[in-house]
Amino acid sequence: MIKSALFVPGDSERKLEKAGSSGADALFIDLEDSVAVSAKQKARETSATYLQNATEKAPELWVRINAFDTGWVEADLAAIMPGKPKGVVLPKCEHASDVEKLSAMLRTHEAQVGQTDGATKIIAIITETARGLLNVGSYADADLPRLAGVTWGAEDLSADIGALRKRDERGRYTDVFRHARTVTLLVANACNVQALDTVFPDFSDAEGFADECSEARMDGFTGKMAIHPAQVAPINTTMSPTEDEITTARDIVDAFNAEPDAGVLSVNGKMVDRPHLRLAQRTLALAGH
Ligand code: COA
Ligand code: MG
Repeated sequence: MIKSALFVPGDSERKLEKAGSSGADALFIDLEDSVAVSAKQKARETSATYLQNATEKAPELWVRINAFDTGWVEADLAAIMPGKPKGVVLPKCEHASDVEKLSAMLRTHEAQVGQTDGATKIIAIITETARGLLNVGSYADADLPRLAGVTWGAEDLSADIGALRKRDERGRYTDVFRHARTVTLLVANACNVQALDTVFPDFSDAEGFADECSEARMDGFTGKMAIHPAQVAPINTTMSPTEDEITTARDIVDAFNAEPDAGVLSVNGKMVDRPHLRLAQRTLALAGH
């Protein structure tokens, strides 16, 4: 389970060096939007070397490759796959068939580098284009064994639809972005994969960031992406169930274990039934219990 994923520009040796000790569960080494076109090749090489030299089990190392419409996916995979990344983050994913297409490419590369078939997972960014947002229904019925998570992006979507703002005067995302965020949660749960919340670019606004992390957790996201090391700790804290939540969840699970045939029970003066049990089990799973 990835609570925190830190984006690191793939062409920056310095940031890669620092990212390892950031406390993030995963690094998303970026070959896409944070890397200038002129630096793409350097980024591939730098990321490949970093992957090859990595010996620790944590953080998990993922690579965000370029989108299919660039024509660079094959070059990206050829560079990184010998380093056996945990997975690949696919930007501007527009349909379940994009995940299938990437899966087929990964399979070939896995065979070439002696990696187990299916070992390389995929996290798809599914709301970066209008087309992608319209096709979110495609994932639930597809067979996508490599898919480990979905997430959403606001920056590219605003460029794609011509939105001049993403948030209203009160700082809340406007409708189309809230829609993107909402469908990401639904796709994740329909596919039984992780829902990761999007980035918060203003890394100096600690208060705004804390609010956004908390809102994400309350709504059902189980992880969030960071763009700066300072964002990692707040994510890890917020995405971890509190002691109170764990105690309550355990009380509910224990009560049903004690009376497995019960439909509804009273726990700590409150009615609990099957949905409460499912939620309690999710809380314990999230807490690693
Ligand atoms: N990963 C690892 N280290 C990072 C980092 C990151 N994402 N962001 C910053 N750092 C390091 C910096 O190198 C700096 O260390 P140093 O002074 O020892 O070199 C330290 O953390 C503090 O950084 P700070 O000075 O506050 O920020 P900055 O001006 O160097 O960088 C950004 C600001 C936004 C350019 C940088 O955070 C960044 O590159 N973020 C990732 C961008 C990205 O990948 N975007 C794609 C997804 S949307
Ligand atoms: Mg982008």
